[in-house]
Amino acid sequence: MKILLFSVAILCFSLSQGLNQNPKCEIQDQGSTLQVFHIYSPCSPFRPSKPLSWEESVLQMQTKDQARLQYLSSLVAKKSVVPIASGRQIIQSPTYIIKAEIGTPPQTMLTAMDNSNDAAWIPCTGCVGCSSTVFDIARSTTFKPLGCQSPECKQVPNPTCGGASCSFNVTYGSSTIAANLSQDTITLATDPVPGYTFGCIQKATGSSVPPQGLIGLGRGPLSLLSQTQSLYQSTFSYCLPNFRSVNFSGSLRLGPIGQPMRIKFTPLLKNPRRPSLYYVNLVGIRVGRKIVDIPPAALGFDATTGAGTIIDSGTVFTRLVAPAYTAVRDEFRRRIKNANVTSLGGFDTCYSVPIVAPTLTFLFAGMNVTLPPDNLLIHSTAGSITCLAMASAPENVNSVLNVIANMQQQNHRILFDVPNSRLGVARELCT
Ligand SMILES: *[C@@H]1O[C@H](CO)[C@@H](O)[C@H](O)[C@H]1NC(C)=O
Ligand SMILES: *[C@@H]1O[C@H](CO)[C@@H](O)[C@H](O)[C@H]1NC(C)=O
Ligand SMILES: *[C@@H]1O[C@H](CO)[C@@H](O)[C@H](O)[C@H]1NC(C)=O
Ligand SMILES: *[C@@H]1O[C@H](CO)[C@@H](O)[C@H](O)[C@H]1NC(C)=O
Ligand SMILES: *[C@@H]1O[C@H](CO)[C@@H](O)[C@H](O)[C@H]1NC(C)=O
Repeated sequence: MKILLFSVAILCFSLSQGLNQNPKCEIQDQGSTLQVFHIYSPCSPFRPSKPLSWEESVLQMQTKDQARLQYLSSLVAKKSVVPIASGRQIIQSPTYIIKAEIGTPPQTMLTAMDNSNDAAWIPCTGCVGCSSTVFDIARSTTFKPLGCQSPECKQVPNPTCGGASCSFNVTYGSSTIAANLSQDTITLATDPVPGYTFGCIQKATGSSVPPQGLIGLGRGPLSLLSQTQSLYQSTFSYCLPNFRSVNFSGSLRLGPIGQPMRIKFTPLLKNPRRPSLYYVNLVGIRVGRKIVDIPPAALGFDATTGAGTIIDSGTVFTRLVAPAYTAVRDEFRRRIKNANVTSLGGFDTCYSVPIVAPTLTFLFAGMNVTLPPDNLLIHSTAGSITCLAMASAPENVNSVLNVIANMQQQNHRILFDVPNSRLGVARELCT
């Protein structure tokens, strides 16, 4: 197993010596479109410094997913879940990053992009527990701390107002953050957003905090979308790059201009208790031509319990609640005859011989999305192991949520059209 190297890892690490010699990393974002980099991209400072075996890469991504699912479940349950005990070192990095310029004159931060979060966080001068790249507030002429009397402070959950500033603590994955609510100009691609409200991180614990900050694309009151309502009209799309290709930058397009015309839509569902999550109505799953038998309760949307299906950019591998996953997996296995099933970490449907996999189609209300093999399977470099890149929702958290994760979204344009309450999906090679 040790000699199997994940092709992703090989590509990345052989390129890593060439950082900054790649002209692609220096391309300026144009208009309202930002390049999106995978953390393993040669343009990313967060890629692992030493090569991992394929097995290690997979396990590491799965471990990160555990923390992610814990975070999502805590949103759904509206209570914090006991942090999962992870024996493994988690890479301190988000999955996808975008470039944001903050302050005047602008300071560049490579922030995580997270569509299931309303947060806006930037690590600031003096932060304890942050990485070395922080926003130097003293160097910005437009920086402004927000006091407890500011209207924005009332939208922060449980602010503390010991000093003059509006401070708050939040958890994210297995981390906690202490921040002061602040304002400054943020520039995304070529669009300046003056008076952008964000949490200036003063203290961070744990390893889930994105090292250079986070831009949430959720729908809640303080999210980027809410703050840029007149500029972007709560509309954005992304195309996430596949991490197997060499030049893997995707794009985040903000606002209604330039969005695809030929695209299929399904309604977005709104959970008033969870405004930051993008729920859709997944009504069934087809493996090959067969619609698998899934109990309706496993897919049904319920605003009270938080049950249903969300589209998430931060989880790597799709998770389905146990009855749904089991039905899909069993049909998938049934279609692959004469091969013994093995497991790898959290993946329970792997093969060590070449297989011909059936297609998998998500049946959403009004829209069917058939996944190409690249979105469905992961292969070791040597091709000797292939796994179905999905798993059952974790047992140790409130598992009512089906999460359509980023591996299953790669090389598709995903359009979030909030004013018209719909989500669009179209194939697009964004790598
Ligand atoms: C953040 O808030 C704390 C508590 O109010 C205060 O002591 C600290 O000076 C603030 N830091 C900044 C950079 O505003
Ligand atoms: C927030 O975190 C800071 C720093 O860890 C801590 O001193 C403070 O007591 C926390 N406040 C609340 C309300 O939990
Ligand atoms: C990657 O991008 C560089 C610079 O844009 C280009 O020269 C090179 O051919 C690309 N490589 C691949 C495999 O597409
Ligand atoms: C599956 O495993 C069993 C037991 O190890 C072995 O006898 C059988 O030949 C294997 N089948 C295939 C198709 O490899
Ligand atoms: C999706 O697939 C199902 C089952 O194969 C079919 O009945 C339905 O008409 C399709 N829906 C759309 C919108 O194509």
